[in-house]
Amino acid sequence: MCGIVGYVGARDAADVLMDGLSRLEYRGYDSAGIAVFENGQVRVAKSKGRLADLEEKMKQEGKPAGHSGIGHTRWATHGEPSDRNSHPHAGGSVTIVHNGIIENYKKLKEFLLSKGKTFLSDTDTEVVAQLLGYYYELTPGNPVDAIIRTMKELEGSYALGVMFADFPDMVYALRKESPLIVGIGEGESFIASDVTAILQYTRNYYLLEPGEIAVLTKAEAKVYDIHYQKIEKELKTADWDVSAAEKGGYPHFMIKEIHEQPVSIKTTITPRITDGMPDLSECGITTESLNSFKAIHVVACGTAMHAGIVGKYVIEKLAKVPVNVDIASEFRYRDPLVGEGDLVIIISQSGETADSLAALRLAKSLGAKTLAIVNAKGSSIAREADMLIYTHAGPEIAVASTKAYMVQIAVMYLFAFELALAKGKIDEAECRRLTSLLEETPAQIEKILAHHEMTQKIADSLITADSLLYIGRGLDYALSMEGSLKLKEISYIHSESYAAGELKHGTISLITENMPVIAVATQTALFDKTISNIKEVKARGAKVILISRDDYTPDQDVADFQFCLPQFEDLLMPMLAVVPLQLIAYYTAVHKGTDVDKPRNLAKSVTVE
Ligand code: M6R
Repeated sequence: MCGIVGYVGARDAADVLMDGLSRLEYRGYDSAGIAVFENGQVRVAKSKGRLADLEEKMKQEGKPAGHSGIGHTRWATHGEPSDRNSHPHAGGSVTIVHNGIIENYKKLKEFLLSKGKTFLSDTDTEVVAQLLGYYYELTPGNPVDAIIRTMKELEGSYALGVMFADFPDMVYALRKESPLIVGIGEGESFIASDVTAILQYTRNYYLLEPGEIAVLTKAEAKVYDIHYQKIEKELKTADWDVSAAEKGGYPHFMIKEIHEQPVSIKTTITPRITDGMPDLSECGITTESLNSFKAIHVVACGTAMHAGIVGKYVIEKLAKVPVNVDIASEFRYRDPLVGEGDLVIIISQSGETADSLAALRLAKSLGAKTLAIVNAKGSSIAREADMLIYTHAGPEIAVASTKAYMVQIAVMYLFAFELALAKGKIDEAECRRLTSLLEETPAQIEKILAHHEMTQKIADSLITADSLLYIGRGLDYALSMEGSLKLKEISYIHSESYAAGELKHGTISLITENMPVIAVATQTALFDKTISNIKEVKARGAKVILISRDDYTPDQDVADFQFCLPQFEDLLMPMLAVVPLQLIAYYTAVHKGTDVDKPRNLAKSVTVE
């Protein structure tokens, strides 16, 4: 939530900041702003709305000109989206941008009001700016001292970019919880919430740890701890290049990312397969450790939680080990029955989701072993878990997750195969067969992507719908949860996913003439039963969209549209069937004209509860 950038160097700072923000806009897009040192003075430009609104404003009012500055794109928490509440915020001679939430801002504000400070916005961020300004007035000429004093007072989460008017060619940064990296270029330094913001300029960066302070000049970036002791940081190199964070000729990131799924699967699973067998030893997972777990819990949010549900079905089917799947925001507050000997798997694309991170910490404090399945390298969840499997999806920019989900379930399959083998529930030959089928999924998905025209026709038939249902049984039900979330978050059409057999216990009363029902029927053992449920809704007027395999030709009274998937192993069908569901959601949103990559009210990285 919220993206921040900072720059010191020889380039036009406003251009670098705007470019960086354009790559961070997925983190929030309620307002945007920059502050640049222009002839030794801080000049701010900010605007409610998207980055494009800020660009427009700067065209009319002039762009701040200089070579150092900070920038922000906002997902509003304290105070409505408005020019007034947009970052940067100032306090005396200090100007800041902030990602995170200051939990004790009210108490700090009262203190600052008692010292005669006045406030221009409703934000928690302005309180930090004023506090920094207050401490700087007490120790003028010593910015780090003001920062350290302020850090000692702040409760909550923050990544901050800071400018002191007395130090025009410098940017300061500090963090607790919220992510921040420091980019190191040739004669230039950067800060950013995410490395994608600076890839165009450099791939070298430091990961700023909680409690650390960075001091940037164009020559170098120094990092200190809270006692003002210099820290030697390990320089990291991003393995993504700038093209990974660009649309590459596609109209939206979402469709680009849907098409990247075959490659993402390969790059994620190939390093974890040795001689045709799953091999997660590099992540700390061994036969011995797998056999020692008493219970398995999967905890995550949104799409990542849906990947956990597919994982539950697969693990229980193959390894015969019970798996609990929890929504992280529920898990953390319901005194979960988790303890020593349990494995808690946290799934997260960003690795920064506040509830998932809190769930991880809770699981550790209860004595459980934790395994993180994370896409963002060096993120908090990745660093704090006992064991770690990185998914290698590359940067996922569209707010609606697609390729991250795909690789999350691919990892869950590998894990399930290895667990089932360790538990003696499948033999080596079966494990090898399943692993080789998993390796075939990219080619199967390529086939679906090459012939997906039907998804556009289906999307056309959905744009006037107010509400629709997704139904399925078993793995098809698990999968349809993700299909339903995809559609509602980007097309704004209400939808729910339902276990097909559960409809007649209440929900079937919603069916009226022409209400769309997307039925997923890929599981051989459940096929006839799902078809019976489809006939029940069809008989009550539903418009049925059937996602099934190409060896099934439905009777005329079953489906209005059918999307055919290649014939494949039942267990792995979710990896194929999710693709038309993603495409249907995508084209419905495109045909409705919504903002596909940045749907309303959402942000990619949810770092608040
Ligand atoms: O970064 P995470 O995977 O932890 O994010 C969890 C959810 O916010 C996320 O999966 C969200 O549901 C999707 N972006 C929706 O498409």
